[in-house]
Amino acid sequence: MELIFATGNQHKANEVQQILQQRLPGVTVGTYDGESPAETGTSFLENALIKARNVHQLTGKPAFADDSGISVEVMGGAPGIFSAIWSGTRDDETNRNLLLAQLQDISVEHRQASFVCTVAFVSDGGEVSFTGVWPGAIALEARGDGGFGYDPVFIPEGFEVTAAELPAEVKNSMSHRFLAITQMADYLSQL
Ligand code: IMP
Repeated sequence: MELIFATGNQHKANEVQQILQQRLPGVTVGTYDGESPAETGTSFLENALIKARNVHQLTGKPAFADDSGISVEVMGGAPGIFSAIWSGTRDDETNRNLLLAQLQDISVEHRQASFVCTVAFVSDGGEVSFTGVWPGAIALEARGDGGFGYDPVFIPEGFEVTAAELPAEVKNSMSHRFLAITQMADYLSQL
């Protein structure tokens, strides 16, 4: 079986390959990083569906996409679906710095946040979706150089280090993306 992952984000592609290799060893995962339609949805699910439907239509193959982001409790769930362009740019460091500045007066005990990932899978058999949530808190300053995006400012629950200070195998065994992709793998293995 061949699946196509609709993403232009090499970090996401590497994480998903690592997770699926272990869960679905017989399945080949290609990536489609061509032009993607505008993400006009108002939820992670709507945006994941837009990306997965587009690639299924273009390739005729079973396709999946992830839409993900970070939700900060005291900010009412923002940046949420706007995580990738929170500062008006797609630059990870600029986005992180803006988030840290917005939270500068918020004390350690009120900085709860979660990474959220919704995966949409679209095939001739229909559409399904899976969501993973990784709870934690926003650090007082950026630390670590692993991962991508908001990893240097996210301290997963139960840890004192940021996601960017964790080895990739550790992040990929518990992250929001791991939780959503493993649900998809369980679904596919039952087909
Ligand atoms: P998307 O490509 O539209 O789904 O945007 C996802 C954005 O959310 C990324 O650009 C990152 O800023 C953030 N994000 C999602 N997942 C992660 C993660 O695993 N680590 C750090 N940032 C993430």
